[in-house]
Amino acid sequence: MYKIAIDIIGNEIKSSNDLINCLNNICKFLNQKIKGYDWVGFYFHNEKNKELELIAFSGLPTQHTKIPFGKGICGTSALTNNPIVVDDVSKESNYISCNINVKSEIVVPLFANNKNVGQIDIDSNSIGQFKKIDLNFLIKINQMISKKFFKL
Ligand code: SME
Repeated sequence: MYKIAIDIIGNEIKSSNDLINCLNNICKFLNQKIKGYDWVGFYFHNEKNKELELIAFSGLPTQHTKIPFGKGICGTSALTNNPIVVDDVSKESNYISCNINVKSEIVVPLFANNKNVGQIDIDSNSIGQFKKIDLNFLIKINQMISKKFFKL
């Protein structure tokens, strides 16, 4: 499934010239086709305001459309530049809840010319949903987005 998904998403990126539209299509695809990807969104950095801004998503609307750097899982990844996998969000103190059904989460930074400019954030209603294969899958998707839309 992941290999086929990479091909489909690769074609979406290749054929798109509108970043936001492309990201919304990727969110919708992942949310609808990958089991356990119950909310999928992209946050981008607003360096001036030192916060993340939600620019595309699929799943239930969230009130957390802006997240200060350092706050929650997303804000922590924005500062450390590292991906974060949380197997059980109830055990995480620096966690912002968007929906009571969420049990696990993955955040993977998106680098443009080696700079962390955003992230893909996925929530699951199952505990321990995200494995190494998901991490590699999402790194690859972010690399494809970066290559198309952020190449110098
Ligand atoms: N749970 C995230 C907030 C974003 S929502 O999952 C959509 C966090 O702790 O940063």
